[in-house]
Amino acid sequence: MERETVVVKGTTLPKSYELNKFYEFPVRDGDVWICGFPKSGTTWTQEMVWMIMHNLDFEGAKEDIHIRVPFAELSWAAPHDENSPHHARDTLGFIKKEYEKGPVCLKTHLPWQLLPRDIQEGLKKPKIIYVMRNAKDQIVSMYHWNKMLYGYNEPLEKFFEGYLKNEYVYTPYWGHVFGFWKQRSKPNVMFLRYEEMSKDLPGMIRKVANFVERPMSDEKVAKLVKHLSFDTMRKNPAVNNENLIEKCRKDRGLEKSETNHMRQGKTGSHKTEMPPELIEKVERWIEDNTKGTDFVF
Ligand code: A3P
Repeated sequence: MERETVVVKGTTLPKSYELNKFYEFPVRDGDVWICGFPKSGTTWTQEMVWMIMHNLDFEGAKEDIHIRVPFAELSWAAPHDENSPHHARDTLGFIKKEYEKGPVCLKTHLPWQLLPRDIQEGLKKPKIIYVMRNAKDQIVSMYHWNKMLYGYNEPLEKFFEGYLKNEYVYTPYWGHVFGFWKQRSKPNVMFLRYEEMSKDLPGMIRKVANFVERPMSDEKVAKLVKHLSFDTMRKNPAVNNENLIEKCRKDRGLEKSETNHMRQGKTGSHKTEMPPELIEKVERWIEDNTKGTDFVF
């Protein structure tokens, strides 16, 4: 939110990203790309997919999620960005090392039109899992993330205006969602929703496991459900980003946060957080952006 930004192919991005370089990213068929607009359940999906791909390696899962599932554009396109909160420089070497061993899982928040050439042109077909979340809950989650990480202290109404002006990194939100929605019928693309994960996590684990060609026994699904529960993830330092949050806050002279990345983990949290006038405004924005399309919430 504080970084200098530029607009590239319609998307607001940190100035430090070298996207020409990212376009040439060495994509491989067997890898899994976890994509999504920030605060849509990316970390939840990353942990699920990594565990599935690594046959529930609970020991290995103690390593930080940013190391196990590198943030692709930061590692590759902004390795020297000192302002990056995500240890980008450590993950670059990791990707290269892991590439020698087998498939890797990568995360990106970039929109479809900024993914590497090999993906866009279909030259390589890694599995692509896109996770989306109801826009109203996503906005609330993003708002709290900015408060938590950077001490943002404007009201939610004001924060939402940044969506309308595409001020935030990775906006526009709808361009992001539609970019992947249009790709959803490709056999290597899966469009997943946070709300479905909340409603039926075991069912979603099975679907994802089949999609990445690692079908799982019921016993393993049950173990993974426990590991992925909100309460377990909230206490798990490998995924809850408590160190990252603390560092960001400390750099800005803020006290230690009482919450972490796993804030509420609920669907419909906007109902208690957004004033009715704002809900109406956001719903109008949703309608304006989805009418005349085949998109269904
Ligand atoms: P809230 O802020 O609404 O709690 P991302 O990983 O893309 O940044 O998304 C963060 C959101 O996913 C946060 O939402 C977080 O709580 C939620 N989340 C992460 N792990 C979860 C889990 N195991 N169960 C439910 N929600 C989870």
